Amino acid sequence: MEGILFPRGVVDGKETLDAYRARGGYQALDKALKRMSPRDVLQEIDASGLRGRGGAGFPTGKKWTFTADTRETPRYVILNGGEDEPGSKKDRLLMENVPHLILEGVILAAYAVGASKAYLYINADYKDAIRAMEEAVADAKKLGYVGERIGGKDFSLEIEFFPAPHDYVAGEDSAVIEVIEGKRPLPRQKPPFPATAGLNAKPTAVNNVETLANVAPIILRGAAWYRGIGTAESAGTMVFSLNDEVKRPGVYELPFGTPLRHLIESCGGGTRDGKKIKAVLPGGPSSAFLSGDQLDVALDHNSVRAAGSSIGCGVIGIVTEDQCIVEEALRIAEFFAKESCGQCPACRMETNTLAMLLRKIQQGQGQAAMLEQFGKVIAFNKGKGFCSLINMPGPPIESAVRLFRGDFEAHLAGKCSSTS
Ligand SMILES: Cc1cc2nc3c(=O)[nH]c(=O)nc-3n(C[C@H](O)[C@H](O)[C@H](O)COP(=O)(O)O)c2cc1C
Repeated sequence: MEGILFPRGVVDGKETLDAYRARGGYQALDKALKRMSPRDVLQEIDASGLRGRGGAGFPTGKKWTFTADTRETPRYVILNGGEDEPGSKKDRLLMENVPHLILEGVILAAYAVGASKAYLYINADYKDAIRAMEEAVADAKKLGYVGERIGGKDFSLEIEFFPAPHDYVAGEDSAVIEVIEGKRPLPRQKPPFPATAGLNAKPTAVNNVETLANVAPIILRGAAWYRGIGTAESAGTMVFSLNDEVKRPGVYELPFGTPLRHLIESCGGGTRDGKKIKAVLPGGPSSAFLSGDQLDVALDHNSVRAAGSSIGCGVIGIVTEDQCIVEEALRIAEFFAKESCGQCPACRMETNTLAMLLRKIQQGQGQAAMLEQFGKVIAFNKGKGFCSLINMPGPPIESAVRLFRGDFEAHLAGKCSSTS
């Protein structure tokens, strides 16, 4: 299938400037500079229905409007390539393979919100991605798309690279800003939100790599074209990450609304050992489990929500019939306990308590009453942190207990359903 971001819908090697040009590269920027005001660009993105691909699915046009509508200057754009979500590799592969597409999106975003500086905040371990983006910036400078008076207009843009620390919270937008300000990656209390008071307390549009990669195609081909792909509430495509649980791991760009079964079976080739699927996390470790009989759910924000989960940033986690959900839930709880930055007492307490309860159950030292405690701990702490990490362990743990109570009861009785 032809993709919007990856020309063939899958990774196809690094796209050179010439190859990018041949598929319309930088024509969106030329069009915007010649025929569109910054407000026109913003309105086109708004009309396209583009939603953030960094996890929350927030409408990009709305976020940019907050930034553009302030009177404050300077304004900033930040490309969020922190990508520390377990199993996620889409941002790295996008940067390595289609760097000009991303850069054109960054420049258009800066034009739309009136930013004079853009930061490319990229996971410090992503050496090839950083190199590819550096080469793209050097090419764009030669073409006059980065620097002073771009296209002869009153629009100048400076670009700076910033390595993202290897830390899960360092991808949270306000923590990203703290890092660029030279501080530790600790999320800020909100409001104010970065869109109006971000870097150096100035308006800052922070967007995920994949989100920004969608911008140039939308500006070139129009919001109506984009809305024709995907579903009414989730326009366009999404890049899904499949990992070692399937025969053909990789990233697959598919229109929103594609059935989960198609992704796992047709793209991924099914489970690695042909084992039956017991459960799926359709949006990484912070999404609720779906059971193996929900594989026909359509992969778009509303359908996955209606099925009881969330799409996150497109990392698909698969649990097969021989695996125990208690082990999976414990692994997730321990991840969040480890990654909680610790500054909010409620988050520190909640994530550690959930991991402790699950560890006890997993080790056969639990009691039935513990199964009721998860919901209480989660409800008590909901929303009490500076960032949404505090809300992340709830969906997988509560859905695990609800859907697979038998696995928990087996552990309470000192047994485990796992045969793997
Ligand atoms: C703990 C935590 C980690 C996050 N990590 C990332 C990340 O690595 N990359 C990313 O784009 N967004 C991440 N986010 C989401 C960002 O805060 C923000 O919503 C996103 O960058 C906005 O971009 P978008 O609107 O284009 O999705 C994270 C959020 C939280 C709470």
